[in-house]
Amino acid sequence: MYGNAFIDPNDPRNKQEVEESQELLDAFQAKIDNGQKIEPSDWMPKMYRKQLTRMIEQHANSELIGALPEGTWITRAPNFKRKMALIAKVQDEVGHAQLLYNAAETLGKSREAMLNDLMIGKAKYSNVFNYPAETWGDIAVIGFLVDGAAIVNQLINSKGSYGPYCRALKRICAEEAFHLKQGHDNLVALAVGTPEQRQMLQDAVNRWWQPLMHFFGPPDKQSVHSEQLMRWKVKLASNDDMRNQFLDQYVPKILELGLSIPDPNLRKNSETKRWEMSDPDWDEFYRVIKGDGPCNKERLAVRRWVKEHHQWVTDALLRPERVRTVPLA
Ligand code: COA
Repeated sequence: MYGNAFIDPNDPRNKQEVEESQELLDAFQAKIDNGQKIEPSDWMPKMYRKQLTRMIEQHANSELIGALPEGTWITRAPNFKRKMALIAKVQDEVGHAQLLYNAAETLGKSREAMLNDLMIGKAKYSNVFNYPAETWGDIAVIGFLVDGAAIVNQLINSKGSYGPYCRALKRICAEEAFHLKQGHDNLVALAVGTPEQRQMLQDAVNRWWQPLMHFFGPPDKQSVHSEQLMRWKVKLASNDDMRNQFLDQYVPKILELGLSIPDPNLRKNSETKRWEMSDPDWDEFYRVIKGDGPCNKERLAVRRWVKEHHQWVTDALLRPERVRTVPLA
């Protein structure tokens, strides 16, 4: 058991043991419809618990794995100021994982189980972190556009129905706002830099565009969980709505820097006010999220290495009786 918030679903005192009657389900839905938050000790349908665990766990995993592509650039940052900012950002991302694992634990799954499921490839994390950060241009694109996409998603999710997740997201969004400034500053420096720097940035935008379009999940008509999650106000916007919001906010910012977007069909329909675009390669999306992206194996190898070499830190903190102490001479 980790932290005070862990709720043991096998504990008979846990209200989850109460059978799921229609009356309970209706009262639960009414609470959500009235805008009340669900807290860990409240009764909740098994499926709500399962869905929330899945989503928060995937989100926590994304923050943890998300630190890796940027982390590889800490030693290669172009100057000391950029290196300091990147170190702080990477540290924040791992802190976000910590907040989110805490929130997921309130639903009954231990952190150890979550980290194990991540390591063995059973649990998912965001598609975008399975691509390499090839140049410093990628760091600018991750800082501004990937974090920008994450903010769109997280601001929406922060208004959802599960208290611990929303509170974690409010804090995360505040920190992400700094990341966005860091990313924008980086992006502008390259966009107004030498022709080589502009080209490096444009190449990065070209490489990241499709993973960014995938980031918000499959089109609404293919989304498996949206309908149920929206009824429970866990999701407050559909995948397509979030993608549309991202395009509204970020396409003008990319174009005003004189950069182009690698989709000749991208345009806003003035009547529907919706963006139209080429259909991203959804086969690639499903391949990547099932473990066959360019960096999946590398990312999970890092988690295995951490487990092998740093298990003693976890043991020292949580199971001191297992740590072998060497008597002082
Ligand atoms: N990366 C990896 N997997 C993704 C994904 C992405 N960008 N988008 C969707 N998927 C997966 C879903 O997890 C689901 O798989 P599962 O059933 O095995 O869990 C499948 O694709 C079908 O998608 P959908 O039914 O639309 O899932 P969803 O309703 O959960 O919506 C998100 C997907 C990402 C929008 C939603 O889960 C979410 O907002 N998550 C929290 C925020 C987050 O994780 N952000 C990423 C890092 S900042």
